[in-house]
Amino acid sequence: MEFSINSGSPEKQRTACVVVGVFESRKLSAAAETINRAAHGYLANLMRRGDMEGKAGSTLLLQKLPGVAADRVLLVGLGKEREFRENEYRAAVATAVRTLNQIGGFDGTLFLTELPMKKRDAAWRVRQAALVAEETLYRFDRMKSKKDDVRRPLRKLAFCVARRSELAAAEHGLAEGRAIAASMTFMKDLANLPGNVCTPAYLAEQARTLAKELDLKAEVLGRAEMEKLGMHTLLAVAQGSHQPPQLIVLQYRGGKKDEKPVVLVGKGVTFDTGGISLKPPADMDEMKFDMSGAASVLATLKAAALMKLPLNLVAIVPAVENMPGGNATRPGDIVTSMSGQTVEILNTDAEGRLILCDALTYAERFDPACVIDVATLTGACVIALGHVVSGLLANDDGLARELLDAGNASWDRAWQLPLLDDYQEQLKSNFADLANIGGRAAGTITAAAFLSRFAKKYDWAHLDIAGTAYRSGKEKGSTGRPVPLLTHFLLARAATKKAK
Ligand code: BES
Ligand code: MN
Ligand code: ZN
Repeated sequence: MEFSINSGSPEKQRTACVVVGVFESRKLSAAAETINRAAHGYLANLMRRGDMEGKAGSTLLLQKLPGVAADRVLLVGLGKEREFRENEYRAAVATAVRTLNQIGGFDGTLFLTELPMKKRDAAWRVRQAALVAEETLYRFDRMKSKKDDVRRPLRKLAFCVARRSELAAAEHGLAEGRAIAASMTFMKDLANLPGNVCTPAYLAEQARTLAKELDLKAEVLGRAEMEKLGMHTLLAVAQGSHQPPQLIVLQYRGGKKDEKPVVLVGKGVTFDTGGISLKPPADMDEMKFDMSGAASVLATLKAAALMKLPLNLVAIVPAVENMPGGNATRPGDIVTSMSGQTVEILNTDAEGRLILCDALTYAERFDPACVIDVATLTGACVIALGHVVSGLLANDDGLARELLDAGNASWDRAWQLPLLDDYQEQLKSNFADLANIGGRAAGTITAAAFLSRFAKKYDWAHLDIAGTAYRSGKEKGSTGRPVPLLTHFLLARAATKKAK
């Protein structure tokens, strides 16, 4: 989609369709009021008659209004003005974009981006509008032989701001929105692919392609190299599969030469059957999304490169398939991690932490400013937090605060859980240094407690995205989260650097 910024007045727009909002109880937004005046009270009349009540999600398409240059005016209901916040704004933009796409107008001009909102400036509103527009029109149909094409799909969308003084900020927000949207689409395409296509080798290939496109550095370690490094917890997960494991390392260098990098580690289980601790069959297909963490960190490097952020970044992706089989790891097997700590694998379905712990040790060689791992790690996180926020745990409160703030700023929110030493008790093993499961209680925390044992040498945070990375049911598919959160975290780091 082609986006642009505009500060013109609504009645003068030469476009297929102008979109303005109306609140409940006949309250016109400022742009709707301007149209109303140009059209001699047309909208006010219509609302008085009850043809449009302004209920959230409602729309009314008007043709050839007197005094209005555009062919059509689309009214979008915004609900009660007092209750109009971020979610309502995003829903209104989605409704507008969906409708514009259906009516076959090719281009549209959105005045919803003018709507005032507490603490959200024009840059925020435009950035979000670009993300929501891209999200609304996203389809994953590359594996369908017949695509359900729209006759004249929406191709061009202009976002309006009320004042000329807001133009620069809006352009800025739009540039970021474009980069984040493109990266979320990249993540979704990867995560939506089935496990027979998106294998560890496929993920490695994608990283190499990204490197070529964006002038990054890609490196991929195979089984033999990982054996030499002593990554036996990672290899233990991969050994039941015919797909060879890959350790993908992608680097972006936008900062000074000697500056410490932010290291992002993404769980790349391309399919998680559970291994010998086999999962039940219901919904097992969704375990193709178990590489969402991997896709999100690759996508975040893409976004950073597109925005040319003045930072050094490393993405590390341990990529494996978790399968049962004659050579698979048995419950009770004990292996030595790259850190030297021995792990008793009591449940082969707790595989994410086994590949991440070796990746966290590998991260040490980059002398990181901080390390953030991203993983669809625990079903317990879905029980605790649902599909609204990602779980966040960290060994440094400053880093946790930065990530929580980034989540708020990008409306891709996270919630912190306590990572207290007391939880280590649950990971004790009779036979090894630690066990890979900690019982039913506090499953998300004990998973992070396990990882923390391998993240002692740097500031570290962990995002559990089991509930937020994808949707189930009729709308099944990747959400592109937490690319907005991670990108905002980097944007904020880049901004404080400039201020210094
Ligand atoms: N990939 C799963 C976690 C998961 C479950 C993500 C459901 C999304 C939806 C992970 O590898 C896993 O199987 N975790 C186990 C851990 C348990 C054995 C300690 C779980 O959550 O059941
Ligand atoms: Mn598992
Ligand atoms: Zn898993």
